[in-house]
Amino acid sequence: MDNKNTAWIIGASSGIGKCLAELLAKNGWQVAISSRNQNALDDIANDHPNLFPFSLDITDKESLAKARDAIIQELGFINTLFLNAGDYTPMPLDEFDPALFEQLISINYLGVVNGLDTILPYMQSKNSGEIYITASLAGYRGLPKSAPYNASKAAVISLTESLHLELKQQNITLRLINPGFVKSPLTDKNDFKMPFMISPEKAAEYIFKELPKSNFEITFPKRFSYIMKTFRVLPYKLYFALTKSSLKTNQVKEA
Ligand SMILES: NC(=O)c1ccc[n+]([C@@H]2O[C@H](COP(=O)([O-])OP(=O)(O)OC[C@H]3O[C@@H](n4cnc5c(N)ncnc54)[C@H](OP(=O)(O)O)[C@@H]3O)[C@@H](O)[C@H]2O)c1
Repeated sequence: MDNKNTAWIIGASSGIGKCLAELLAKNGWQVAISSRNQNALDDIANDHPNLFPFSLDITDKESLAKARDAIIQELGFINTLFLNAGDYTPMPLDEFDPALFEQLISINYLGVVNGLDTILPYMQSKNSGEIYITASLAGYRGLPKSAPYNASKAAVISLTESLHLELKQQNITLRLINPGFVKSPLTDKNDFKMPFMISPEKAAEYIFKELPKSNFEITFPKRFSYIMKTFRVLPYKLYFALTKSSLKTNQVKEA
């Protein structure tokens, strides 16, 4: 096993992260898998000799540092980190809840900050490393009924864009993953038809195929991401006119 093939996936107990871990393991990577749910991680690791469970809470810096040190001790090194942990709950205006904003910003945004703080000194000492951060196409623009989630993902996109060039100067690659709708426990919370929804296995395949490339953003499924990219450049008047229908039918909400 050479140094190219050791990953740490935070947010690997279900959905996209779990499928990505299994796909990397099948392709010969050794993969440290993390989330809060030790039992789920143990079950996943039991099915594959290349998967190694290390539980943590991404909002808890001490648990991150402990996991990092244990992984380096057990697997020898970490050269690829996936910051994929995320949480989502819809929030229509009549359920406006500051606690939900705090919860989602803590996990989705400050969790990424904690993850970077945990790995950067290590990668900087090696003068190498790759970091993949999962945001969402929902972070491109504000959408009704999910302000806490969308704002947290917009913050993640801006953070990743902001750090990309500075980290490149230190030989550390920082890339952004922006999925559309993927079937997972996260989107199971939605009660509306999600356009262009794909399986988590398919999402993992998209990510895996992009790993050898050097483009900043990995986004899928392609047709949906083109639509969302078009939305991103529309003037407000047109954008609000097009997204207005989601107020009535619940159909534009994104995860
Ligand atoms: N599904 C979609 O349509 C979609 C679209 C765009 C972006 N995304 C993003 O893709 C990522 C993966 O989502 P998914 O759809 O695969 O959902 P998922 O199956 O619910 O996975 C979320 C993962 O994050 C972990 N996690 C949540 N809170 C955590 C915490 N405090 N500390 C450590 N781990 C934590 C969960 O594990 P535990 O609960 O065991 O801790 C789980 O492993 C998320 O960042 C999500 O926002 C998803």
